[in-house]
Amino acid sequence: MQSHIIALIAGDGVGPEVTREAVKTLSAVGLVFGHDFVFVEARAGGAAIDQDGEPLPKKTLEICKNCEAVLLGAVGGSKWDCMPIEKRPERALLGLRKELGLYANLRPAKLHIELTGACPLRREIAARGFDMLVVRELTGGIYFGESGRTTSNGFSKAWDTESYDENEIRRIAEIAFGAAALRRGKVTSVDKANVLESSRLWREIVADVAKKYPGVELSHMYVDNASMQLIRDPGQFDVILASNMFGDILSDEAGQLTGSIGMLPSASLSLGGPGLFEPAHGSAPDIAGKNMANPIASILSAAMLLRHALGMAAEAALIEAAVGLTLAEGYRTADIAIDGGTFVGTDEMGGRIAENLSRASQF
Ligand code: IPM
Ligand code: MG
Repeated sequence: MQSHIIALIAGDGVGPEVTREAVKTLSAVGLVFGHDFVFVEARAGGAAIDQDGEPLPKKTLEICKNCEAVLLGAVGGSKWDCMPIEKRPERALLGLRKELGLYANLRPAKLHIELTGACPLRREIAARGFDMLVVRELTGGIYFGESGRTTSNGFSKAWDTESYDENEIRRIAEIAFGAAALRRGKVTSVDKANVLESSRLWREIVADVAKKYPGVELSHMYVDNASMQLIRDPGQFDVILASNMFGDILSDEAGQLTGSIGMLPSASLSLGGPGLFEPAHGSAPDIAGKNMANPIASILSAAMLLRHALGMAAEAALIEAAVGLTLAEGYRTADIAIDGGTFVGTDEMGGRIAENLSRASQF
C-alpha cells in the first residue's frame, strides 16, 4: 500500500482539537478505500514561538515542503498579541503561504439544508439556499505590499500598499474560471475599480481571461456592493473572485451565513507544490480545550486535501456525504445548535462523522 505523507500542524487554540477529528476522519476514509495516511507533526504559530522562539521554524518549512499536503488547525491567541509583528503567530501563516507559493485560496460556503435555521438571514432568504466558492488571491496585494511607519516630532504616519501585477491577477482568475466551468458557470469578480488603480488593472485582466471561457458568465461587482448582496441574496453567487484583502473579508461573511464560521473549510494551492488545508475559523481561544469547537470545517478541509492534493475525488465526496448525514441525523455542536438537535462536543461530532463514512458509502 502506498503511503501518503501529510504534514500536520495542529497549532494553537482549538487547532489541536479540530485537527484530531480531521485525522480521525482521514484514517476512517483510509480504511474504507485502502489508503495509508502518515502524519508528520510540525510546529507553527504560538506553539512554535513558545518552543522554538519563532512562529515558523525552518524545520517546519522543510517538513511541509517534503510532504504531499499540509493539514493545519489554527494559529494565534491573545498570549502572543504583545509580540512584535515579525514574531506574531499569524506570521507563520503568511510565511507558509509565501514560502509554499500558495497563491490560490478556495473557500466553499454552502448552506446545508439542515442548518437553514442557523443562518443569520431572514428565513425566506435562507430557505432559498446557497452554494458559493470564494476564490481569494493569497500571496499578493496589500498583505504583502510595501508597508512602513514614520514618526517625526511625535506625529506618526503608517502605510500599506495594495499592488498587483497582471500575472498575479491572471493566474488567480484562471483558477476562478476553471472552478466555475465545473460548477454553475458564473464568476463574480469583486473589486473597487471606482476608486483604486490596482482594481482597474484587476478588472481588465479578469475580463481578458474570461475570453478563454465562453461558457462562463463574468460580472464585476464593487466590494461594498458585494458585501451587501451577500446578505441580501447569497443564492445569486456561484464563484466569487477577489483580491487577498477583499477575499479575506467576504469569506468570513460567507462563512457565517452557512450558520457558523465553524463550517468553512479552505484549500490554499500552489503551482504543483504541496497545498495547505485549514479551517477558516482561526484559533478561537475562548473555547479552546473545552471540547466545544465545531470540527466540521477541519474535516471538510481534509476532504479538500483529498480532492486537490491527492486526486481522491470519491474519497472527498464520501466525507462530505458523511458530514451531511450527520447533520441530517440532528447532531450539532454549540455554534450550530440554534434549532435544537442533539448537542455534541468536538470529539463526538468527529466520531459520528467517521462512523457515518461507511454508511454514506452505501448510498
Ligand atoms: C484568514 C485569516 C488570516 C488572513 C490571518 C490570521 C492572517 O484571517 O486565513 O482568513 O488574514 O489571511
Ligand atoms: Mg480571515
